[in-house]
Amino acid sequence: MLDRHHPASPKDREVIIRVRGIEVGFGERTILKGLDLDVYRGEILGFVGASGQGKSVLTRAILGLVPKRAGTIEVLGRNLDELSLSERRDLERRWGVLFQQGALFSALTVKQNVQVPMREYLDLSEKLLDEMAMLKIEMVGLKPDAADKLPSELSGGMIKRAALARALALDPDILFLDEPTSGLDPIGAGEFDELIATLQRTLGLTVFMVTHDLDSLYTVCDRIAALGDGKILAEGPIEVLLASDHPWLRSYFHGKRARAAMAGSA
Ligand SMILES: Nc1ncnc2c1ncn2[C@@H]1O[C@H](COP(=O)(O)OP(=O)(O)OP(=O)(O)O)[C@@H](O)[C@H]1O
Ligand SMILES: [Mg+2]
Repeated sequence: MLDRHHPASPKDREVIIRVRGIEVGFGERTILKGLDLDVYRGEILGFVGASGQGKSVLTRAILGLVPKRAGTIEVLGRNLDELSLSERRDLERRWGVLFQQGALFSALTVKQNVQVPMREYLDLSEKLLDEMAMLKIEMVGLKPDAADKLPSELSGGMIKRAALARALALDPDILFLDEPTSGLDPIGAGEFDELIATLQRTLGLTVFMVTHDLDSLYTVCDRIAALGDGKILAEGPIEVLLASDHPWLRSYFHGKRARAAMAGSA
């Protein structure tokens, strides 16, 4: 087990997501301009950057949901451009995603939402589907009676947890989280961070987490990568980012809100 604040030297660690020279744009605009990034097995990588810089775009590009103009993406050692349809499907089973928007299907109950990926990829009896969904619902700290509720009957924090249960439905190796704590109060956000850290440890997950939440960066992330002008501005343990003299990083980590977060995590 890795000590969160003293992970093994990156050189010794398995790269589970390898992004090289990736370019993504829409029309005339280029969002990602030859970006390189490694994510190591078993780490929680925090991905930061100003709004609109392309954090969600990179996440969606890795997932194959937006086309790239150049570059390569390898996940679990496989180049995503070289997969057959069935290999692609096998790979998709090995990651779970909590999207920034549209976390759940509004017409389905929590349990039905969690069962969507199970029905798509697994051939199981209704009884087993129910048991597995209840297990995931419990795993994310929801009470069993949440299972039969609709998303409209849940609080924001419960919706995040239910969406997390769905992301974990197929026991993935990798979890993608896009702003998982946005919209939660600080206590709810802290609890959600703790849940992510616990799940990461107990399930051995690799977590790619887009976040604006400084508390999350201080408390749960092993490494942080910062996006700016279509590239990675800095990456490493938080100390490395704190020491950066890039203007955006300086104001982000040393501005007023940053000091409050640092005091809170000390
Ligand atoms: N499908 C699309 N078509 C056209 N432009 C897009 C599309 N998706 C994203 N963009 C643009 O790409 C840029 C980056 O968007 P993205 O959602 O990745 O930002 P972000 O870093 O996640 O920001 P935030 O922190 O606000 O979530 C934005 O200017 C956005 O308008
Ligand atoms: Mg985003």
